Amino acid sequence: MVFPSCTSWFALYGIYCTFRLILKVVGYFVVLTDRIQLIDRYSAANLHEVVSLHYDLDLFIDLHNHILNGTVVHRFRFISSDVTRIVLDTRDIKVHKVYGKDNKKTYDYTIAPFNYITNMKNQQLVIYLDTKYGYGKELNISIVYSAAKTATAVNWVSPSQTFGKEHPFMYTQCEAIECRSIIPIQDSPSVKSTFDVRLSINKTYKAIASAVFVGEEKKENITIYNYSQKIPVPSYLFALVAGEIEYKDMGRRCRVYAEPSKLNESVTELSQMEDFLDTIETVLTPYIWGTYSVVVMPFSFPYGGMENPYLTFVSPSIIVGDKSSANVVAHEICHSWFGNQVTGKNWSHFWLNEGFTVYAERLIGLKLNGTRYYESQSRIGGDNVRTLAKELKDGELTKLFPNVYRDGPDGIMSNIAYEKGYLFLKYLEDKIGIENFYGFLRAYLTSYSYKSIEVSDMRRAFEAYTSKLTKESLNADPKDLLADIEWSTWLYKGGIPSIAKNYTNEFIEKAIKLADCYLTDGECKDVYGKFGLDLRIIFMRQLLLHNNNLTEAKIKIIDNDNKVTVTEKNPEVLTLWYRMAISKKYTDVDEKVKEFLKSIGRQKYIVRLYEAYVHSGKKEYIQNIYKELKDTYHPIAQRAIDKILA
Ligand code: BES
Ligand code: ZN
Repeated sequence: MVFPSCTSWFALYGIYCTFRLILKVVGYFVVLTDRIQLIDRYSAANLHEVVSLHYDLDLFIDLHNHILNGTVVHRFRFISSDVTRIVLDTRDIKVHKVYGKDNKKTYDYTIAPFNYITNMKNQQLVIYLDTKYGYGKELNISIVYSAAKTATAVNWVSPSQTFGKEHPFMYTQCEAIECRSIIPIQDSPSVKSTFDVRLSINKTYKAIASAVFVGEEKKENITIYNYSQKIPVPSYLFALVAGEIEYKDMGRRCRVYAEPSKLNESVTELSQMEDFLDTIETVLTPYIWGTYSVVVMPFSFPYGGMENPYLTFVSPSIIVGDKSSANVVAHEICHSWFGNQVTGKNWSHFWLNEGFTVYAERLIGLKLNGTRYYESQSRIGGDNVRTLAKELKDGELTKLFPNVYRDGPDGIMSNIAYEKGYLFLKYLEDKIGIENFYGFLRAYLTSYSYKSIEVSDMRRAFEAYTSKLTKESLNADPKDLLADIEWSTWLYKGGIPSIAKNYTNEFIEKAIKLADCYLTDGECKDVYGKFGLDLRIIFMRQLLLHNNNLTEAKIKIIDNDNKVTVTEKNPEVLTLWYRMAISKKYTDVDEKVKEFLKSIGRQKYIVRLYEAYVHSGKKEYIQNIYKELKDTYHPIAQRAIDKILA
């Protein structure tokens, strides 16, 4: 036998490498064509062929150097026959290795663009299997990877942007499709997985995941925190937070986490958590998650709240001193049922998460604060959504079940899902009566818990439940009643149907009257100071909505009369006020707005203000301010503002 010489080995290896390279290049171009599957067009994953039942995630977090390195082991189950590859969603992730059980087998893979969404750089990780896998077969695959320092799900918060000013901090925000920037995953709400996560971090800090704490180990300078999520959840509910964090337990099952200097204030503000939970539990099914915690985030947090299971994240902008924004926590608590337990299958079904949650949140408001509060909240929501629908010309994005667009989920995640969804549920509640409707909610939850569902499933549950009700309890024949329900108007048409409820009461009218007085040059009585938050919002909205004839001089009078710029503290009211002031070139607010933009990262507010400056012809002015502040905002908020300033 003749052994090849050293040079021949070298040549052979060269041929082998070239061959693999050719395969990679060919593979890359083959996957470049977007193969959109119908389950979820925002995901490149082959969801119809394989699902991740469980993943084990080992993550190393370096808060100082913005490093997130990990290994994820997915336990896949094939749900189709002859499957030859697994496609996962990624964005800017560097994959180092893909291998099978016990590290014995490596898999070839390609990372290619997934261009369905045009304004986001999504990618797909295509893993080539060595054999065909059939229905029911399972396979473990490990992926060693690093997330980019600019991963869009992560906000690396510098010490100066924290409350303590001493230590760095980080948190993630995965809804809607950001999880793919930190884990190679099937990033679609149609898939629910359990997971275990090990978080390794410098021992000075604490790291928490949206799962149950199962212990910690110390190794030299590192602490390893272990968490386990035994309830299957979609990828958008995966969350991490790390930094100098302390906590205080409250009530039977609630906890508040915050930076040490923010903890006491937060605990006082959020004292009603347990009451909220108890109240809604009496109407719905039992709370399945055991404990419930809230983490008060640094100011850059881009939302009011985010319902990560066990671990709601809230903006510090809700810690205002008078509990007037506590409904944000009530809202996130309600997601424990709607969204986290019963989940919309893709982002076109977003209203199943948000509309039901707003309904339940308002129910807590009604039971704990009474009818007047309930009516104001519903009125504000209704006014907002009617204005938005008009702005969107009753088009596709004003449908409860909108077609997805290639420019990503932002358009779908509007107030339409929240408030049109809410009005639709109120319509159904009116049809069958409130107690029956609560019964429906329980039946709906029982049927679809742990599942991802579509709007048609919701309709089926409602019809099945209602058809079993008696004529006496409905005051009508169930069949006749069901035949009358205007499903297609609500679900498939744009705009807010004229049959939607309108809310008013004497207090609401008083606030509107005061605004109308200013709008019509009347002698306006000074009552603003006595208004609660709800009426201040209603007053400001009315002014903003009919501001055509308002002059800068008039804005000054309103300000002098009511001391809005100097005394108002609530960010909701301030945003409305600033928008109006900016549009009327009332420059007295400019310094205050700048302070506001510096101290709040909540997208809903700041985006409106950047927009207002652009519309009022002060683009350059606001661009300069943004240059200074950009790095202090979350990447998601940056993306939204970049779009406005482009
Ligand atoms: N799940 C949302 C936040 C969200 C929506 C994040 C879309 C990413 C994409 C959360 O439950 C929410 O609705 N927050 C509201 C609270 C409000 C309705 C009380 C918010 O942040 O304003
Ligand atoms: Zn919500």
